[in-house]
Amino acid sequence: MASDQELSGTVQNILDQESLKWVFVGGKGGVGKTTCSSILSILLSRVRSSVLIISTDPAHNLSDAFQQRFTKAPTLVNGFSNLYAMEVDPSVENEELPGDGMDNLFSELANAIPGIDEAMSFAEMLKLVQTMDYSVIVFDTAPTGHTLRLLQFPSTLEKGLAKMMSLKNKFGGLLNQMTRLFGVDDEFGEDALLGRLEGMKDVIEQVNKQFKDPDLTTFVCVCIPEFLSLYETERLVQELNKFEIDSHNVIINQVLYDEEVVESKLLKARMRMQQKYLDQFYMLYDDFHITKLPLLPEEVCGVEALKAFSHNFITPYQPVIEKGTMEELEARVSMLKQQLTDAEAELERLRKGKQKQVGKFCCYL
Ligand SMILES: Nc1ncnc2c1ncn2[C@@H]1O[C@H](COP(=O)(O)OP(=O)(O)O)[C@@H](O)[C@H]1O
Ligand SMILES: [Mg+2]
Repeated sequence: MASDQELSGTVQNILDQESLKWVFVGGKGGVGKTTCSSILSILLSRVRSSVLIISTDPAHNLSDAFQQRFTKAPTLVNGFSNLYAMEVDPSVENEELPGDGMDNLFSELANAIPGIDEAMSFAEMLKLVQTMDYSVIVFDTAPTGHTLRLLQFPSTLEKGLAKMMSLKNKFGGLLNQMTRLFGVDDEFGEDALLGRLEGMKDVIEQVNKQFKDPDLTTFVCVCIPEFLSLYETERLVQELNKFEIDSHNVIINQVLYDEEVVESKLLKARMRMQQKYLDQFYMLYDDFHITKLPLLPEEVCGVEALKAFSHNFITPYQPVIEKGTMEELEARVSMLKQQLTDAEAELERLRKGKQKQVGKFCCYL
């Protein structure tokens, strides 16, 4: 979203947008979604009354990031009074339906409609979360494809509902008979099933409306400066556009900065490669807030590490450039001299070896 004011290289705009209710954080696997969503939730907890972070990635690692075990119920994060976390698995079929027979029947029907079980459990979770009255909810999402499927869930449910209706018309009271056969009373019969789907549809429509409202919802794309990630970010941004979901923040993680004397050819080559993609990111997303994060020598694990790293989300990272100071240049000259001496010694050794070999060879003639 274009704005007249200068676009800051931070996520300050998200912290300032008091109306935001849903913040999605997504991108390719391993780029730093969990790290970034955890830090965003910590930063939001400083300006909001209550924050909930939900991981919808089946490969949960909120527990690793915060070094605390979380479950599918919101749990207070240690050291905070208003930050809660939960890990849900949207691909698991709903286990909480009453009655075994009905359970089976329901999953049979659900299996007939691809993605419906996932959509249903996502919807149930959203319904539950909505009643909890958090001031803002941050989603640590699964890699792109999975997330896009979840965002399509309103239409999946709609299709599901239509299919159920057509089944109902086709088979008349058969479903009811089946449910009776399973020993399930009317409370969980065919009408209850349809009612449940219908009820869910209301939640879906309501949530869908909220997701499409840029005052309430935004999607933060996390990436790294590499081709595949750039490509995937573009795909994600386009899909979000299609779903009418607002997105105007990109976080580029794991950026290498030239802050020390880098003699490694590999590192230098990777920096050049990163620069190429960084330029492309800035060109493609000139109307986005782009936050660059440095690649650290160690992982970002535990609340203290997350808090320390969070500074880079609100103040653009400034590399410590030591290049050019006298001490640094002296150290560099002496290192290069040492390398030269070593190389000369090695060359001398090789030359001597060669001469010996040539000498031996001459004896044979
Ligand atoms: N800028 C960084 N520097 C060093 N390690 C990082 C950085 N960002 C993330 N990590 C580490 O990389 C790993 C993957 O990050 P994570 O946030 O779990 O990615 P994702 O959720 O996208 O799979 C984690 O171990 C995390 O601590
Ligand atoms: Mg993750």
